[in-house]
Amino acid sequence: MRIRITEVGPRDGLQNIKVPIPTDAKVRMVDILSESGVEEVEVSSFVSPKWVPQLSDAEEVFRRIKRREGVIYSALVPNLRGLERALSVGVDKIALFTAASETFNRKNTNATIEESIRRFIPVVREARNSGLVVRGYISTAFHCYFEGRIPPEKVLEVAVRLFDIGVDEVSLGDTTGRAVPEDVKRLLEVILRDFPPQKIVLHFHDTYGMGIANVWTAYSEFGINRFDSSAGGLGGCPFVPGASGNVATEDVVFLFEQSGVETGIDLRRVVEGARVIVEATDGCVGLQSHISKVLERGRL
Ligand code: HMG
Ligand code: MG
Repeated sequence: MRIRITEVGPRDGLQNIKVPIPTDAKVRMVDILSESGVEEVEVSSFVSPKWVPQLSDAEEVFRRIKRREGVIYSALVPNLRGLERALSVGVDKIALFTAASETFNRKNTNATIEESIRRFIPVVREARNSGLVVRGYISTAFHCYFEGRIPPEKVLEVAVRLFDIGVDEVSLGDTTGRAVPEDVKRLLEVILRDFPPQKIVLHFHDTYGMGIANVWTAYSEFGINRFDSSAGGLGGCPFVPGASGNVATEDVVFLFEQSGVETGIDLRRVVEGARVIVEATDGCVGLQSHISKVLERGRL
């Protein structure tokens, strides 16, 4: 079973970085990651620039990247305004986002879960009319910084609503990076009763170093083969105190390749993509991944 990676570094990886990153560097990062063999690159977000200033150049990034055939270029969209912006630069796929925790959703989108889903209905319709693929993210699928542990049944309820309004896939986000393999089992046992594993993507943050263990559990015990990860382990959500980067793409690639599971991804290219950001920020941003540290020592 081939592993399918959505490289979220240019979006999740950068959205929380406070120092300015030149658009040029973002474009270079996306172009290098496009050549690494990942199936999809989440390039940016068409959200309010007041909420996430770092990604306010989303249109320019999209206009300047070199599209590589076979790679899907996606972006976050919160509302119809975001969809219009995304369509104006020809995105292939959009990602809507809500949460399983009311408190987090309010802080992230200024809406209740139900309000955010109702807001998505015309967005999905318009996106479909324009031939786009639509993802729905559920943040805080395991744990919320404000509300604590989230029951799997609550996540299922939100997933049912998202599939009902017509999303093609749901990505379950461990926003705080607090999930451990037992949590992954508890959630997937519930979700996969109603939905096939091909429709489910897992999105782990690595705050407690559990990302790789969680990825392996989802793959080996539940047959999930679609994961979000970020080059260099960059990332975090600006609306969760202390949330750190996503599980690193190169660590995920190393895990699978060493276990005899093909990814088709060149992990050195992935690390090169992340290094663009280290250089563009004069080292203010560092690589978080295990593999990037091994590579720095010169041997893999
Ligand atoms: P709001 O303030 O309630 O909405 O924000 P509003 O409609 O009143 O808009 C406020 C201002 O933003 C207005 O401008 C709008 O025009 C403008 P003003 O009149 O004040 O000058 N605006 C926009 N501008 C450009 N593009 C748009 C847009 N929409 C409104 N699309 C809203 C509601 C949802 C827009 C806001 O809360 C928002 O943008 N939130 C984004 C938050 C975000 O990006 N969070 C990080 C991504 S989610 C994440 O990281 C989790 C994930 O990785 C999974 C996981 O780890 O769990 C996906
Ligand atoms: Mg995230």
